[in-house]
Amino acid sequence: MKILLVGSGGREHALALGLKADKSCTELHVAPGNPGIATLATIHPLAITDNNAICELAQKLSVDLVVIGPEVPLVNGAADVLRSAGFAVFGPSKAAAQLEGSKDFAKGVMRDAGVPTARSFTCTQESEIERALDAFGAPYVVKDDGLAAGKGVVVTNDRHVALDHARACSRVVIEEYLAGPEISLFGISDGRNILPMQPAQDFKRAFDGDEGPNTGGMGAYSPLPWAPDDIVEETYEKVLAPVIAEMAARGTPFIGLLYAGLALTDEGIRVIEFNARFGDPETQVLIPLLMTPLATLLYKAATDNLDDAVLQWRDESAVTVVLASQGYPESPKTGSVISSIPIIENSQVFHAGTALNGDSLLSTGGRVLTVTGTGADLTEARDRAYRAISQIDLEGSFYRSDIALNASVAEKGN
Ligand code: AMP
Ligand code: GLY
Repeated sequence: MKILLVGSGGREHALALGLKADKSCTELHVAPGNPGIATLATIHPLAITDNNAICELAQKLSVDLVVIGPEVPLVNGAADVLRSAGFAVFGPSKAAAQLEGSKDFAKGVMRDAGVPTARSFTCTQESEIERALDAFGAPYVVKDDGLAAGKGVVVTNDRHVALDHARACSRVVIEEYLAGPEISLFGISDGRNILPMQPAQDFKRAFDGDEGPNTGGMGAYSPLPWAPDDIVEETYEKVLAPVIAEMAARGTPFIGLLYAGLALTDEGIRVIEFNARFGDPETQVLIPLLMTPLATLLYKAATDNLDDAVLQWRDESAVTVVLASQGYPESPKTGSVISSIPIIENSQVFHAGTALNGDSLLSTGGRVLTVTGTGADLTEARDRAYRAISQIDLEGSFYRSDIALNASVAEKGN
């Protein structure tokens, strides 16, 4: 099977590794890719916002499957163009990707499907905004309705800050604050069936101790030794299966990866958000633990064939730590030289924002590399991830030192 994977981040590097490891994948093409991915696959230049260019590349390569990594082409309808041209695609249609593209749309689907989530108001007028803020009180949760590259959500005790953010959005969802640990739980769907993956936890704040601004994600780990035993089953029953049924009933089946961001509150699980694609950096811990051949799995999802599929996981733990550029997330410095990448057993360095200039590897983005360690438990996985990342030099760069720390301590105490 020939596969085209669209995207260029750490998530796509991890997916490329998983796809390549499946013997049924005979040729792997990635566009636009990055220097790390180029060691695994043939890379092609591509503007991912150009649906026709994606389709033309798939036609030129005559691939059997297209896997779309990032949200932008999904929300733009790249999957629709590819499906019309006869390709099997892992990634939702434009209509189904609205689960990520519009918070208000996602709220409507959850309401119709009876999925537990924060109570909310969608507002466009100043008077509605003020009423909604006062209805819920502090902490205020204010969400831009549309895609905002991780900058759309403000959680604050300051009513002025909440109001300013709400005013800056043309449509805004204001919702009740959910207290409790957050987890990411992904399901792989063919539009009728959905297979839940094991949960992961992401670290959204820039600095240790959950301080600093929100980011795209500074690290992740899986599995979660502290999570309730039935969390996967409960999320499947209360969230994943009802959403897939609702999307199918609306005539817009969701085919691809449904990402549920959940809060585990005292009143039970609540959906914080949906994404329509694999999470980054959660994918960098899940793919190294997944034993089920990935290319075959995603092809089955893309061709309405998941009825008998099951997921198998290694009995190991994985921890990933993001190396970020100086100034990330506000104003990341790019164009600096990255020192040689260490080769350490049971660790893997995924490229996210890198480019080659001659023989030099340069930083090109806010999140530069993601370093995953695997091991018998979280402590061993952490040690390997941190040993590897500490050997990479990039001027001004930083990483969190507490990814999976509390969970690894708790695990030892058990
Ligand atoms: P999102 O961009 O939707 O992932 O939101 C970013 C972060 O904002 C989430 O990971 C949460 O930490 C926080 N957040 C979003 N919605 C809520 C909520 N209703 N209550 C508490 N925190 C929230
Ligand atoms: N890790 C958060 C995201 O992928 O959106």
